[in-house]
Amino acid sequence: MSLDDCRNDFPILQKRFYGKPIIYFDNAAMTLKPRQVVEKMNEYYYEYSSVTGRSIHKLANRTKEEVEKARRIIQDYVNAHSEHEIIFTRNTSESINLVAYALDLKPGDVVLTTDREHNSNLVPWLFMQKKKGIRHDYVPSNPDLTFDMGAYEEKLEQGVKLVSMVWTSNLDGYTIPAKEVVKKAHEHGALVMLDAAQTAPHHKVDVRELDVDFLAFSVHKMCGPTGVGVLYGKKKLLEEIDGFIVGGDTVKDAWYDRFEFLPPPEKFEAGLQNYAGMIGAGAAAEYVSRIGFKNIEKREYEINKLITESIQDIPGVSILGPSDPRQRSGIVSIVVEGADPHDIAIALDETANIEVRSGRHCVHSWFNAHDVPGSVRASVYFYNTLEEAETFVDTFKKVLGVLRGA
Ligand code: ALA
Repeated sequence: MSLDDCRNDFPILQKRFYGKPIIYFDNAAMTLKPRQVVEKMNEYYYEYSSVTGRSIHKLANRTKEEVEKARRIIQDYVNAHSEHEIIFTRNTSESINLVAYALDLKPGDVVLTTDREHNSNLVPWLFMQKKKGIRHDYVPSNPDLTFDMGAYEEKLEQGVKLVSMVWTSNLDGYTIPAKEVVKKAHEHGALVMLDAAQTAPHHKVDVRELDVDFLAFSVHKMCGPTGVGVLYGKKKLLEEIDGFIVGGDTVKDAWYDRFEFLPPPEKFEAGLQNYAGMIGAGAAAEYVSRIGFKNIEKREYEINKLITESIQDIPGVSILGPSDPRQRSGIVSIVVEGADPHDIAIALDETANIEVRSGRHCVHSWFNAHDVPGSVRASVYFYNTLEEAETFVDTFKKVLGVLRGA
């Protein structure tokens, strides 16, 4: 299937808004959904909608089978050793919170992040600082926002319990050298969790090759349904830790005075689950794998390069992160001196149906530290085209002209 053919799988791309198609450049927040994923979830609702782990009739058995199939697809997607290492959660934030609670951190334990974390990998640690007296610290980036390995090693030398870092940043699309980050952390006796929310949809993730301890992502950024996330954890670690929400379906047995947990992943998935969502997650992972990461990276680079080269020399316009678009995945995060990013986003939408995100993208801490009010962020995926990128550039220039009274 060519990338342009796959556009037919996305009903929103076929729609017209005020007579024109949509140019969807807000993929870092949420991707569009192909029919195949929606149909797979509808199949659950229409044909066998039931529960797992409780009833033993044929509809429940089919549900169990489909959920376990989805779990194995996700296992393959990240190359985990076993499906028991894949926990379904609601989103990346919940996956990170699960680890934050489950690790039983003690006062004084250091959790090390980068200086450009999404709130989902910052606030849980600030919260643990307040609640449990752990210490949150961060590695400052180089001036071009690339990862400072020297600064990282210095922090590790001081003693770190957990390194929890964004792998690919939603701020500027930059991807940290995760393999080296993990290796160095392990050499210093620290565990590592990676926030792969912006990596898993765009680049091949191989948890075995990385040797990472925990990895979190959401499927709504990879053609899947909303409200479904994944936590990968090494089996041995998952056996050692306990869930932070317990109850139905997490136990083998219970008495008035005690209970016995089920093994992972069940002990972490309390209560009736979002079965349609889990099954949809499997369909989404299959769909993205069929498109192929080489194709995804190539298309995103071509678009990123076109936009970057077309706007980088405009006076008063700067792009966050490294100057080479190859280092910024599918994200172009634009700061326009003296202009409110929301005004630009509204104008792009109203003029040409171009959907971007504006503001601080939940990376408040970085924007506050750098005294930047926000950016206009174009984030693309494999179904976006070079023609759309050209329209973006033309419209962006027009909007700037109007804002500047040209
Ligand atoms: N993390 C999402 C974004 O960057 C919501 O837009």
